[in-house]
Amino acid sequence: AATVQYDFSVDWVQANPDGDYDRTFIGINGEWPPPPIKCNIHDRVIVNVTNNLGNEPTAIHFHGLFMNGTNAMDGPAFVTQCPVPAGNNIIYNFTVDQPGMYWYHSHYGGQYPDGLRAPFIVYDPDEPFAGQYDEDTYLSVSDYYHQSIPWLTANKFLTLTNPTGGEPIPDAALFNNSQNIKFKVEPNKTYKIRIVNMGALVSQYIWFEGHDFKIVEVDGIYVEPTDASMIYITVAQRYTILLTTKNSTDTNYPMIASFDTTMLDHVPNSLVWNVTGWLTYDENAAFPEPAMIDQYDFYDDFNLVPVEKEQPYEPDYQVSVSVKMNNLGDGVNYAFFNDISYVAPDVPALYTVMSSGNLSTDATVYGANTHTYVLGYQEVVEIVLNNLDKGTHPFHLHGHTFQVVERSPAAPDANTYLTYDSANPGTVNEYPMRRDTVYVRPNGYFVLRFKTDNPGVWFFHCHIEWHLEQGLALVLVEAPLEIQSRQVIPEDHYAACKAGGYAYEGN
Ligand code: C2O
Repeated sequence: AATVQYDFSVDWVQANPDGDYDRTFIGINGEWPPPPIKCNIHDRVIVNVTNNLGNEPTAIHFHGLFMNGTNAMDGPAFVTQCPVPAGNNIIYNFTVDQPGMYWYHSHYGGQYPDGLRAPFIVYDPDEPFAGQYDEDTYLSVSDYYHQSIPWLTANKFLTLTNPTGGEPIPDAALFNNSQNIKFKVEPNKTYKIRIVNMGALVSQYIWFEGHDFKIVEVDGIYVEPTDASMIYITVAQRYTILLTTKNSTDTNYPMIASFDTTMLDHVPNSLVWNVTGWLTYDENAAFPEPAMIDQYDFYDDFNLVPVEKEQPYEPDYQVSVSVKMNNLGDGVNYAFFNDISYVAPDVPALYTVMSSGNLSTDATVYGANTHTYVLGYQEVVEIVLNNLDKGTHPFHLHGHTFQVVERSPAAPDANTYLTYDSANPGTVNEYPMRRDTVYVRPNGYFVLRFKTDNPGVWFFHCHIEWHLEQGLALVLVEAPLEIQSRQVIPEDHYAACKAGGYAYEGN
């Protein structure tokens, strides 16, 4: 295995990805979009980050990587580190033992939709579909906002862009950080395409006219190759597909990413919520307009089967939460798990574990409204989530993939709630799919299970960036005594706390 080093100067960069509006983005080394990170499985990756923003702290999360033994490198501010103040430097140093498609993004405040996000690709010579494709490439989609995040989130979501006070409405959809992309292909070849949604809010449907494909990996988990003609990808999810091209170059084919507009509480007339690119066989052939479709016939990821087959684990411990979105009468929108709206502690939770000895097993040491659960070591934990909100939400667990044991349909109407009843479970697959980000349907539920085999402090939250800011998060302190015996906080991470005036000694 090799060591791969990246030196990242995080700074402001001008760009105009939709051709409509020039704005500043958070870029790296003077460029936006930021570069993808690439490595081989088992490599050590060192990312040396200098914050040259001048006016904002930052912190970087490597989404989907387990950080086994290196919890301090996970990235979320006030969970595993202090934010890195402007003018300071921090090193992330970890090994990568998982193959597939990941991404990295800022995990400070609502910062990543200002541009600090990019793919993280881990090549694996032993992938089960090795030799079955000619090219290995990637594609990103995202919603896009002309205004900056501090502006959009001013007054805690008394939003200036959305008169209803709901989530900010995006200005455009992007394909590979631009619009009108031409994806050059050759006839009779198979392309491995790693797809990631790096947006802030909106799930997208993606399809390639005239081409079916096989889903072979989701969120770094290899799955039995599964035929599909469309995927539905929430923010933070990844799908790797194998797509075989036609044998003729007579025409080019539209490839389309389209917003799930049910996630927007209104759709302005000006919003173009589709973005069309082309599978370009021949620059001189036709570029036909995409056909209208009236139904999104996407493959339901619940039915994917991992290559490594495991039956549903038997749970030892249950964390049960219900989701609510509400306004407490002060005009500000909040999000709740069990009536608790997450508030970050002053001291990063991991640092509290390290400094609090045997008290670390007592959830109250992590502070009020941090909604912390302390988990045992080598147990099976079940997360039951009942969505008492009429919207769909993508949830992400750090440090793990989980089995998606159950997921209900959407409730038939906005006043009906489908809640989980363990005495009357719904459909349970023999070999449940696994991933790190999964959606729950409107007024529905899901049940996830995972093994506590990775001692660390792990965030579980809605990956809609606005909802995370509104408090839809909780913290799992997994095996705190094991954390104390095997984790190390590097000196430069403490130094970032000190430089920023953040507390870092626990109780
Ligand atoms: Cu993609 Cu908590 O992160």
